[in-house]
Amino acid sequence: MKKNFLKFNNSFKNKSFVSINQFSSKREVEIIFKTADKMKNLVKNRAVNGLLKGYCVAELFYQPSTRTFTSFLGAANWLGALAIPIHGMSAYSSAVKGESLADSIRSIYQTSAADLIILRHPDDDSSEIAAKNSYVPVINAGSGKKEHPTQAILDLYTINQKLKKTDNLTVAMVGDLKNGRTIKSLALILSLVDKKNKFIFVSPDTLRAPMSLINKLKSAKVEVYETDDLNEIMPKVDVLYVTRIQKEWFAKEEEYNAVCGSFIIDHKIMRKAKKKMIVMHPLPRVNEISTEVDSDPRAAYFRQMRSGLYTRMALLKLILLGNK
Ligand code: NCD
Repeated sequence: MKKNFLKFNNSFKNKSFVSINQFSSKREVEIIFKTADKMKNLVKNRAVNGLLKGYCVAELFYQPSTRTFTSFLGAANWLGALAIPIHGMSAYSSAVKGESLADSIRSIYQTSAADLIILRHPDDDSSEIAAKNSYVPVINAGSGKKEHPTQAILDLYTINQKLKKTDNLTVAMVGDLKNGRTIKSLALILSLVDKKNKFIFVSPDTLRAPMSLINKLKSAKVEVYETDDLNEIMPKVDVLYVTRIQKEWFAKEEEYNAVCGSFIIDHKIMRKAKKKMIVMHPLPRVNEISTEVDSDPRAAYFRQMRSGLYTRMALLKLILLGNK
């Protein structure tokens, strides 16, 4: 067993992907994007290819998921790998009997002969633990409140597709910035690709982004501004990244009710936005984006999901086969 979640240094081969902190250059993001573009063409042309024929990919999900689970499963299938998709790990696996995550990871490898394990788990350090104890690379498909690195890659890919750049952007992140993991990974990757990307964090006071994230961005000389006034910031924004208030992390229903509905994106607020900007959301949405916005050409959240298929295909290929 090895500590295999090392810095990428331009090569993803046989490495676990647990954190955006493994990136050290924009070049690494470009390698993924280039591969994802090829995957996009492959899917568009219905050119099923057996690039990963003979490989086996296991998915272990201890938390609910629609998009991440199906796009990884789709990615494995489109590339011809054998897929072992397991949802409901927290209800139906031996975790119920008290088995540790480390033992479950070792077991899945032995029982399925998987070449790669994709993990979603409620603990912040789950992916690190899994990667340390795994014989094969682990991909973090969401770890607690901490990180969702493949979501950040698909988000950045969407931004690049829609706005044709990933630099010099003003990105407003709205909603539950305390418990949400997507914004943390996305802020890290955006600050890596360009220090001139600026962040506006918009949240209720009780759901502000952790100081550790804000300090990390500030020490990298990235501009960060916090507010609870959405109206004031709308005209400046290139990317409006809206997130769900993460009900599952609240101790009391009343506490959730007090903040749920704090920021709702509707036609009225969209009138204040630039003509050329995009609205994103990792989904699922509850009520934070009114359905009337769905038909606005700036709404990118449905197309954003398809980027998940292409970028996850790229990651599977790059980790299992390398850059060639
Ligand atoms: C997110 C997650 O699980 O962190 N969903 C996703 O993967 N697209 C966001 C959320 O649950 O709110």
